[in-house]
Amino acid sequence: MTPAIRVALGDRSYEIHVGPALLAEAGRLIRPLLKTPKVFVVTDENIEPLHLGTLTAALDAAGIENHGVVLPAGEQTKDFPHLEGLVDAMLEARCERATTIIAFGGGVIGDLTGFAASILLRGVPFVQIPTTLLSQVDSSVGGKTGINTRQGKNLVGTFYQPRLVLADIDVLNTLPSRQLQAGYAEVVKYGLIDDPAFFAWLEDNGARLLAGDALLRRQAVVTSCQAKARVVAADERETGRRALLNLGHTFGHALEAEAGFGDALLHGEAVSLGIVLAFTLSVRLGFCPAADLVRLCRHLDGLGLPTRLPGDRAWDRRRLMAHFATDKKVKDGRVVFVLARGIGQAFLCSEVAVAAVEAVLDEAIAGAAGAAP
Ligand code: GLY
Repeated sequence: MTPAIRVALGDRSYEIHVGPALLAEAGRLIRPLLKTPKVFVVTDENIEPLHLGTLTAALDAAGIENHGVVLPAGEQTKDFPHLEGLVDAMLEARCERATTIIAFGGGVIGDLTGFAASILLRGVPFVQIPTTLLSQVDSSVGGKTGINTRQGKNLVGTFYQPRLVLADIDVLNTLPSRQLQAGYAEVVKYGLIDDPAFFAWLEDNGARLLAGDALLRRQAVVTSCQAKARVVAADERETGRRALLNLGHTFGHALEAEAGFGDALLHGEAVSLGIVLAFTLSVRLGFCPAADLVRLCRHLDGLGLPTRLPGDRAWDRRRLMAHFATDKKVKDGRVVFVLARGIGQAFLCSEVAVAAVEAVLDEAIAGAAGAAP
């Protein structure tokens, strides 16, 4: 078994376990952390028929009383009405301060449940059991919780760390391939930020990993979680370096908001497009060799990740730019972009000329998939 990865945050430190068959071990792994043998499990309609039985059997076997709720799947669930409904359900199930909440799902369930746990009774313990590649390598680690609002993505939330993260690689076998590909964008991100050797490893192994090779999947999740654990331990509240993890997310969130936070454009797909736009901007500004952008697009394209805006809608540059204003990385009215000097050399930049961003978006809109030449 791979040794657990530690997120070092003093008395709020916790472990990330990555491996096969962890769901069946969940009761044994969670039990020592519980103040009282009672948990409340939050999952969604996709995960419930596939995996909830395995988890509850493991909890039962460890003598852990468990209740829970099944929420609709999808980004629309990450909103105020569902937060209210979730908190109601927790209180009706008589959750107490010592009850541990388990987030059992992808990024939506993890973010919403973590937020609910952080405000319920002024904070109750929670555990993340991420079920998508995206949540295993990114959102379940580091304590960012929250919901979307009318104004944009993740604009209301808390920093609230889980007590444990269990990333069961086997669960990825039931993930639709589109979701798996979308999550892969967040894996690539770690190579692009500061680990060119990992990017090269992904070039060699990405296709087999996505096709189902369990050892490669585990290695990719472990490397990603190790990278994230290092960054979070150094900058939990994103006062500096942690912002690099938002590579591709400023553009990505704007695209997602325009596409309506739904199935039309998944979060990871928006991140894939956002990463390409961030590199395109970096090339245009003279920071990054064009060859690195070509190499990046070749890798993403080769694995079926989007590198051109979908041509199913009329993208509007002004509307996309307007979304930047609500980006959490805006500082003194200026958008802080994550740019790159090359693969593995990301940096933050708040001095980006608006004209350069406009030009990149105009070019991307003109080149949207299926757009008239
Ligand atoms: N997803 C970026 C972060 O956790 O900081």
